Amino acid sequence: MQKNKMTIPDLVQMKSKAEKITILTAYDFPMASIIDQAGIDAILVGDSLGNVVLGYESTVPVTMEEMLHHIKAVKRGTKRAVLIGDMPFMSFNISIEESIFNAGRFIKEGGADAVKVEGGNGKTIATVKAIVEAGIPVMGHLGLTPQTACILGGYKVQGKNAEKAKEILQQAQALESAGCFSIVLECVPDKLSEVVTQKLKVPTISCGAGSACDGQVLVIHDMLGMYEHFVPKFVKQYANLTKEISRATQDYIQEVRQGKYPGQEHIFNMDQEEVEKLGC
Ligand code: KIV
Repeated sequence: MQKNKMTIPDLVQMKSKAEKITILTAYDFPMASIIDQAGIDAILVGDSLGNVVLGYESTVPVTMEEMLHHIKAVKRGTKRAVLIGDMPFMSFNISIEESIFNAGRFIKEGGADAVKVEGGNGKTIATVKAIVEAGIPVMGHLGLTPQTACILGGYKVQGKNAEKAKEILQQAQALESAGCFSIVLECVPDKLSEVVTQKLKVPTISCGAGSACDGQVLVIHDMLGMYEHFVPKFVKQYANLTKEISRATQDYIQEVRQGKYPGQEHIFNMDQEEVEKLGC
């Protein structure tokens, strides 16, 4: 594991060295500290924040201020990993000037190293190019783009037929030409990821896009079993923290009710002399 701070060029070079890139999301200081110290290559403060932390039904309501609040917390816990902030819906869709301004806030105020932008239509490509030209590294995101899931017909696998697959490949190539340093492919068939990965110089990151990509990203609440409302097919749960937190909570309730907690080891004592002076 590299000991120094990881950089964007380090991530890009991992593709040529055939080293898999590992990315997880985080939304607060303690989780960022744990996964940073465990050796993750990059941390994404995803707008999945809306679902798994803020309890919204989709990522659409997430605001710039909510994202910034969490990026700042994650930044305080991130010493080594590359930190990427996910641009929320409508923060990069109105004008190029506003998009650069918002991306700049993630870097200047949030302390992020890069931003992520969903989509690959002509307008988004022009926006990505302008943000990169302003000196801000951009990660692209194609396939299932949750911010526009309603246009895609819901949270469905994308690029299953040749025509749609070609469209995604062309968008990936356009994003690379616009200057993206990496592209997330979400919920696309393994074969399409393989083709895109072979055609691009920059790394592809799979989020439910199979094993051919240059790296993987998962929402941390999904992989830790902390978000039971919906578990996508592609998620592997490496722990079941919902069960563990629920068990610990029930033990606590029981012990408080039974007078078992706090025990002697959790109590602060007073010297007997001082107790006597109290005279009570
Ligand atoms: O918002 C998010 O967490 C994401 C990842 C799932 C790629 O965009």
